[in-house]
Order: sequence, then structure tokens, then C-alpha cells
Amino acid sequence: MTSELSQKPHDRLAAALADEMEAVNLLIRERMASKHAPRIPQVTAHLVEAGGKRLRPLMTLAAATMCGYTGPYHIHLAATVEFIHTATLLHDDVVDESQQRRGRPTANLLWDNQSSVLVGDYLFARSFQLMTEPGSMPVMRILSNAAATIAEGEVLQLTAARNLATDEAIYLQVVRGKTAALFSAATEVGGVIADAPEAHVSALFEYGDALGIAFQIVDDLLDYQGDTGATGKNVGDDFRERKLTLPVIKAVAQADEEERAFWVRTIEKGKQEDGDLDHALALLNKHGTLAATQADAFAWAAKAKDALAPLPAHDIKDMLVDLADYVVARIS
Ligand code: IPE
Ligand code: IPE
Ligand code: MG
Ligand code: MG
Repeated sequence: MTSELSQKPHDRLAAALADEMEAVNLLIRERMASKHAPRIPQVTAHLVEAGGKRLRPLMTLAAATMCGYTGPYHIHLAATVEFIHTATLLHDDVVDESQQRRGRPTANLLWDNQSSVLVGDYLFARSFQLMTEPGSMPVMRILSNAAATIAEGEVLQLTAARNLATDEAIYLQVVRGKTAALFSAATEVGGVIADAPEAHVSALFEYGDALGIAFQIVDDLLDYQGDTGATGKNVGDDFRERKLTLPVIKAVAQADEEERAFWVRTIEKGKQEDGDLDHALALLNKHGTLAATQADAFAWAAKAKDALAPLPAHDIKDMLVDLADYVVARIS
């Protein structure tokens, strides 16, 4: 028998919110369809049936439930958040030329870039339809702002990549945009739809922001030290794409002349050879930047947990606290 405690926090959240999550999944299935363009259900089914952790919709449901919401619209908001997420993944895998997602070949690999971009657009449009349904202007403002901020973060990353001048402040700006904006919107709209007091709504926002940052730092760390079997994504993609993520930014800051020449050749000029990824890893280890990056992720997770303090005691609140620990436990 699986005791409640031995379950992962997001499984416990999913169990506590099982009925709501089922309704979210039904709504996702209904809205990802298309009567007119057969390519749409092919691509969306490929991605949606691969699963995904459904972390962001769970966060919306959790926030709304914790704040005492009893209406039906947290379902729409959770589905909106997952649609925005799925749309950005379709686009992101084109931009990153990725080949694996959720343990499956990416849509851009199975079909083509055109299909991924256009079906991504379709999902974005569907998310906008969904977010209007609760009829709440503040909710629409939060979610449409998040969609713009995510796109901004991805574009900022384009110019930050391949540029050794990219520092930790720019990295943080990218991560806040491309990842944390949706986490914070997911929790914030949960509080807003429940009409929670301002202090609770901003606590939920702060939690999502810090958790999203921790989450992306972990994702970037796993890109160097993860295992494809566990992440469902390729290891070393960021290096091959010449992305300046936190472990590399920290290593560049400590590089001697010879090491700097290595980073200039591989990241700035993109002249990569066999063995370069191993050498990059050796440099990250030499300067202890994987450990330092891990420490940063732990600090953001701690910040996420602290942010929840103003919220009243609730089972779901405890699960959100555990979720913050779990997100960073993937790397310890
Ligand atoms: C992947 O997010 C994109 C990042 C922000 C790193 P998730 O890891 O939550 O993706 P799924 O939905 O579970 O596949
Ligand atoms: C996450 O960025 C995608 C978005 C948040 C839009 P990454 O490119 O770092 O994520 P993965 O590693 O492909 O999931
Ligand atoms: Mg990517
Ligand atoms: Mg990317």
C-alpha cells in the first residue's frame, strides 16, 4: 500500500484535486480538438497524451481551493494555463531544435516546424477564448500579461544566448519571463477567482514566481547532469544550442584565459567538436558551478515556501510547501 507520505507532492496534490483535475483534462481534450484542420488533433493528442506533469493547472486549482473558491471557473483557468504552457512548448522545441519532449519525439521532428508553430498559435488562441469565460477582467489581465511576458523572455533569451556578456541578472530576467511568469500567473489567478484578500493573492504570486525560478534553474542543471530516462529530454542540448544558463555563466565568470577561449569558441562562435561537452562539464565541476547553481535553486525554493506564510493553514498549503522541496529534490 502506498502511504500518503511516500507519494510525491505533486501526486498528493493531484490526488487531493482529482475531481477538479479530471474536469480540467476533459476541458483540455474538448478544446484541443478542431473540426476543420486534422493536423491540429494529431499534434495536440501527441503532446497531451504523452502526459506532462500538469504542474501549472494543479497550482491554479490548489490556489483557488485553498482560498475557499466554490465556483466552476478554476477549471477553465487551469486549462488556460496548461494551454499556454503547451503552446510555448511547441514553439520552444522549434526554436531550440529539440528532438525529445515528454519522452517522445517532438512534434517538429514527427511533423514539421510549420505544424508546431501553427498548432502552437492555435493553442494560444484557444487559451484566450478559455480565459474570457469566467468573465473576470483581472483574470484576463493576469493571464494575457503572462502570455506576453513568456514570449518576451524567450526572445530575450535569443540575444542572451551565444553572448558571453550575459550575466546572472540577465539570466534571472529570462527565467522570470519564460518560466516563472506562468507559474506566478497560475497561482495568482487561483487567488483572484476566489476573491481572496490582496495579501493572500500577492503571497500566491510570490510563491509561483520563486517556485518557477527554482524550477527553471533545476531544469537548466539537469540539462548538464540529468538522465534522459528521467527527464524525457536530451542531456547537453543547452550546450549544443550555445545557451548561457546559470552553471555556464558562473563558470565563465571564473574562467582563466584558456578557459575563456574555450567558451568563446564553443558558445560564442559555435565551433563545437567531439569531447567539448565533456570538457565543459569538467570546467563546471572544476569551478563548482553545478553545486553553486544547486544552492541557488534551493534558495529560491526556500523563498517560495516563505512566501506562503501569510496564507491560512490548509492541507493544500502543506502540499505546496512540499512541492517546493520536491522541485529542487530532483537534483539532490
Ligand atoms: C517544461 O516544463 C518547460 C520548462 C519550464 C522547463 P514542465 O517540466 O512542467 O513540462 P511538462 O508539462 O511536465 O512536460
Ligand atoms: C522552457 O525553456 C520553455 C518555456 C518556458 C517557454 P527551455 O527551452 O529551457 O525548456 P526545455 O528544457 O526545452 O523544457
Ligand atoms: Mg527548450
Ligand atoms: Mg528554450
